Amino acid sequence: MIITKPTCTIDGQKFEFTAGESMLEVARRNDIAIPTLCHDPRLDPAGACRSCLVEIEGQRRLLPSCATKATDGASFQTKSERVEKHRKTLFSLYLTDHADEDSEGGQHRGAPNKLAGASKKFGAENWGKLTNLRDEIAGDRSADVNPYIQYDSDLCILCAKCTRYCDEVEAVSAITLVGRGSETAIATPDSRSLLDTTCELCGGCVAVCPTGAMGEKKPKTRNQPIESELKKVRTTCNYCGVGCQFDFNVDPDGRDGLGEVVKVTSPDATPNQNMDLPAGFSGVSSDGNLCVKGRFGYDFVHHEERLTTPLVRGADGDLHPATWDEAFDAAIAGLEKVSAKYGDDSLAFVSSARCTIEENFLVQKVSRVAFGTNNVHQCAAT
Ligand code: SF4
Ligand code: SF4
Ligand code: FES
Repeated sequence: MIITKPTCTIDGQKFEFTAGESMLEVARRNDIAIPTLCHDPRLDPAGACRSCLVEIEGQRRLLPSCATKATDGASFQTKSERVEKHRKTLFSLYLTDHADEDSEGGQHRGAPNKLAGASKKFGAENWGKLTNLRDEIAGDRSADVNPYIQYDSDLCILCAKCTRYCDEVEAVSAITLVGRGSETAIATPDSRSLLDTTCELCGGCVAVCPTGAMGEKKPKTRNQPIESELKKVRTTCNYCGVGCQFDFNVDPDGRDGLGEVVKVTSPDATPNQNMDLPAGFSGVSSDGNLCVKGRFGYDFVHHEERLTTPLVRGADGDLHPATWDEAFDAAIAGLEKVSAKYGDDSLAFVSSARCTIEENFLVQKVSRVAFGTNNVHQCAAT
């Protein structure tokens, strides 16, 4: 029996799809661009921002492609005159009511400003600033004493991506939409500091925000580099054994031209189309998520007291810089001395959660084979 896949037509071209895919997913899989602000493959679609509306044959109204499933035989337009007019009007309204012109150069403190980019692309115009009532409801978030995250209601388009991330991915529901109509805003219960809520300071709300409304307090931008000047260096977090991938955002001119890490961002959670992965999974081990340590704990990189060479305690009782060979010799001599005097089981080896699995394997080899003790542990073991 031949099983045929359902098909739909996008901008006059026919494409196969898998049952359950949204119109946006089918379009993107076939390299047809549709702007989105509130969409994220890790989250249930909300259809909140209206930037992805398409014109579907037989439907009176434009519908959000992120929240509309593709159906067999459906035909829709992503670039019709009506769709283009909608986009220009929508982004002009957003620009007028929300976006801070200063953020257009990317100087805001969060993820790259998708709203500013889309507004420019679709020729949106700023029709003049409207009154913002949201601060009265959300309270002055800059007064929140948490060290990392700041909310600016003037930049917020109420797409609820941050609250949905907090609910659906982080599962802590620390922030929520409050108020009604023009007074709607993102806030914590009773406008408390994030430190007094269930917030884990994962920074995911900052990472998903398309406008910079959820921003970082942190980047220590002595230089004030703009987003496009930052160089991204992909690396693996070594705080624990999960091994999340992230990008150090480096200001090349920082520290007198030596380069300075000014923030950490998580790689895009966009699914890798070349891998056969479950729907919504990106193929990056951390799926675009980070914890507070990986996201905000990068001060050690340039800390003036960071150890950059081994230290060996001398006869004077002080620590002195040494070569790796000298440090190994000193460690072996010390371990052998204890083992000779008190026996092998007087030793115990505890390795760091920052070690790779291969390094941990070697630690247990040293413990069991070189010293003959099973007293070995790794501090991330749970
Ligand atoms: S930092 Fe994480 S836990 Fe806290 S509000 Fe943002 S998404 Fe929720
Ligand atoms: S803070 Fe950002 S992610 Fe949250 S609702 Fe506002 S614009 Fe959307
Ligand atoms: S991306 Fe579809 S409505 Fe926001």
